[in-house]
Amino acid sequence: MSEKKPIRIAMIGTGLMGRIHTNGYKRLGDFFPEYEYRPVLQVACSRREEKIKAFAEQWGYASYETDWRKVIERDDVDAVDICTPNDTHAEISIAAAKAGKMILCEKPLARTLEEAKEMVEVIEKAGVKNTVWYNYRRIPAVTLAKQIVASGKLGKVFHYRANFLQDWTISPELPQGGDALWRLDVDAAGSGVTGDLLAHCIDTAMWLNGGIVDVSAVTETFIKERVHQGSGEKKKVGIDDACTFHCHFDNGSLGLFEATRYARGHKALYTFEINGEYASIRWDLHDMNRLEYFDHGDDSIVRGWRSIHVTDGDQPYMNRWWIPGTSVGYEHSFIHQVADFFKSLETGEPCHPTFRDAYETQKVCQAVLDSASSRSWKDTGVEWVEK
Ligand SMILES: NC(=O)c1ccc[n+]([C@@H]2O[C@H](COP(=O)([O-])OP(=O)(O)OC[C@H]3O[C@@H](n4cnc5c(N)ncnc54)[C@H](O)[C@@H]3O)[C@@H](O)[C@H]2O)c1
Repeated sequence: MSEKKPIRIAMIGTGLMGRIHTNGYKRLGDFFPEYEYRPVLQVACSRREEKIKAFAEQWGYASYETDWRKVIERDDVDAVDICTPNDTHAEISIAAAKAGKMILCEKPLARTLEEAKEMVEVIEKAGVKNTVWYNYRRIPAVTLAKQIVASGKLGKVFHYRANFLQDWTISPELPQGGDALWRLDVDAAGSGVTGDLLAHCIDTAMWLNGGIVDVSAVTETFIKERVHQGSGEKKKVGIDDACTFHCHFDNGSLGLFEATRYARGHKALYTFEINGEYASIRWDLHDMNRLEYFDHGDDSIVRGWRSIHVTDGDQPYMNRWWIPGTSVGYEHSFIHQVADFFKSLETGEPCHPTFRDAYETQKVCQAVLDSASSRSWKDTGVEWVEK
């Protein structure tokens, strides 16, 4: 067997995403064995020594650090994976780029468009390999949707609609800020559902249906004050609890998007639907291995919505997994992104979405927030190109 080229990974942040990315690196060699490069779990980093030591041992990292700056300074690190809250993405990725490290950054790219712009400028100037974890693109059924759209089977697209519904912040007793609840603190998160949930919907939407030109949005903050875990005092809530917006795509279609953390009964209901001249498709995270497809060209006596179980070897990514009829899960979208990133090291191609692509998504998020606060339509300024 030929020697693999090691890429030494530094994992910064070891919560939900730190674990799921680590799982991706660990699985790569087993399921993509022919790849030229292989990840080495070099160092894991979070702030509390006791916790990070235990994490490094459990997941098989060779070492640990409690300060991300020390990680960046290390010569034995090739790639930095940023899985920390949103307020740290800019500082860590800019430092990593200046140190010449490859960067894999969690979404949303940044808290604001301004931060994101600086990040893209520095990363592109440094010329380091980069990707942003908009992982839903790599769920096999979603990738199949991309193939169907690209094949022209839908014809002219009229409508794109997406929802991302949750219900975990309904209690007014829930504090904001600190571990686990940084998403409710605007200083740490940048925004609420817009950056957290709609950013995913926007990335998928532009990937499938092209650039979003302009938006008209409304946001609501249902619970106005929450105790902050840092100070222990009640503080104004600065995030959007819910957001809906409609928009124009550059292909002439209309878009309709909704995200909330107040839809009782829904835990993570991400759905999208596209209606074209000849056909429609729809997808639902809760039934993630199926793609619903309606083809008006079918013989009328059998015409209707078909439910494609995306488990065959000739469907995206599925030749890496089990046998037709058996399915994969949420974690596989991250394994696929690791695989595509490592493949891109061989090919020299970018691994989309790059920081530049994620910046375009950030433009839409910013336009959504600006539209809601000004109660007016906003141009996004998106320069989306097919990728
Ligand atoms: N792609 C997706 O589907 C997806 C899903 C969830 C979260 N995310 C994104 O991933 C990022 C992390 O989210 P999460 O759910 O894993 O959060 P989390 O709260 O579970 O974990 C955050 C981790 O960062 C560590 N941390 C915080 N500040 C740090 C610092 N200054 N230095 C070092 N470590 C620090 C914490 O100790 C913790 O280990 C966020 O940007 C979030 O938006 C993406």
